[in-house]
Amino acid sequence: MPALVSGRKVRIAFIGAGGNARSHMRSVHRRGDAEVVAICDTSAKALSDAAERIPEMAAVPQFTDYRRLIAEARPDGAIISIPHTLHYEVAAYALENGVSVEVEKPMTCNPGDARKLMALRDRTGLVLSVGYQRHYQGVWRWVRQHVASGTYGPVHFVEAWQCQNWGGGGWRGVPELSGGGQLNDSGSHLCDIMLWASGVRPSEVFAFQENRGLAVDRISAIAFRFPDAGVGTMGIIGESTRGMDEGMQFWCRDARVRVDGIDSTVRVTLYTPDGTGHPVDTSEVPDYPVDKDGNFVRCLLGADEPQVPAECGLAVAAFTEAVYRSVRTHAPAEVDW
Ligand SMILES: NC(=O)c1ccc[n+]([C@@H]2O[C@H](COP(=O)([O-])OP(=O)(O)OC[C@H]3O[C@@H](n4cnc5c(N)ncnc54)[C@H](O)[C@@H]3O)[C@@H](O)[C@H]2O)c1
Repeated sequence: MPALVSGRKVRIAFIGAGGNARSHMRSVHRRGDAEVVAICDTSAKALSDAAERIPEMAAVPQFTDYRRLIAEARPDGAIISIPHTLHYEVAAYALENGVSVEVEKPMTCNPGDARKLMALRDRTGLVLSVGYQRHYQGVWRWVRQHVASGTYGPVHFVEAWQCQNWGGGGWRGVPELSGGGQLNDSGSHLCDIMLWASGVRPSEVFAFQENRGLAVDRISAIAFRFPDAGVGTMGIIGESTRGMDEGMQFWCRDARVRVDGIDSTVRVTLYTPDGTGHPVDTSEVPDYPVDKDGNFVRCLLGADEPQVPAECGLAVAAFTEAVYRSVRTHAPAEVDW
């Protein structure tokens, strides 16, 4: 994409300085081509924690209002890491005021807002990327390269599940801030990677959810259909005795591709027509050379393309919103693409 910054370091601001943002402050600081120029959080404690825990951030100007930050610090890009339902208004304000955006997952809590952000991106020519880090992992790039591209023929069944002992603490348990429970939180990663790695585009969903004593969904059972006579299921188990774990399988015409584990433990097994399973060496597809923050910075320098464009945020928002609509209406819901 065309360079938005040249001849100097990219000026990055953080909007939201909580647990997730802190690790990304380090990652931006380590880069030679970018600098953190401002940090905003509505919580004084979050601001002081960031400055104390990351000494390099101690001298960075702090703000409690993101509008003031944008007016005074004039960043090139903002990394937005705040409660889910606030993503849209802050990202829209940044784009409207000339600031590119890397927004954490989920990009928005409904497809209409996702489309409005995409229209702003297109009108301004700014960068809009989403914080789904799995797109940078070689193993998931391998799955996409082979499943979405049809190496084993078209997909006709998908099964995906995720478990985590998820408590919905803090804003995560408040629907007005979280926009939903575990489906919208860790489950957002599962939705994204299932859709991205398989290329499947569900047209209709039917779902059951239980809150299990919380104000938001903790467990979900989702069924969906997709074009050319495909169907699939997804389970989000936010109440589990184990640590976080995941599994996903894609039944294609010529093989079954099974993916187990998360992060560094992800492994792929290929089941060939004779029924035998073969562990796959996915190293033919390497990790992307930079992480999501590096990709964002390099896009601003005109040296890269977004690896998680807003279209991925729209896909998850459309799928997730259809699930919640199905649960509310006790009926199948069409996905609003
Ligand atoms: N990609 C990942 O793997 C990953 C991991 C964890 C969290 N996240 C995402 O990061 C985001 C933040 O999660 P977290 O775990 O850091 O939560 P957190 O509670 O630790 O931090 C959120 C911060 O946002 C601040 N905030 C709220 N409203 C604000 C506003 N209007 N302006 C500025 N700051 C505001 C809060 O005071 C808080 O400090 C969420 O979108 C979450 O889903 C992504």
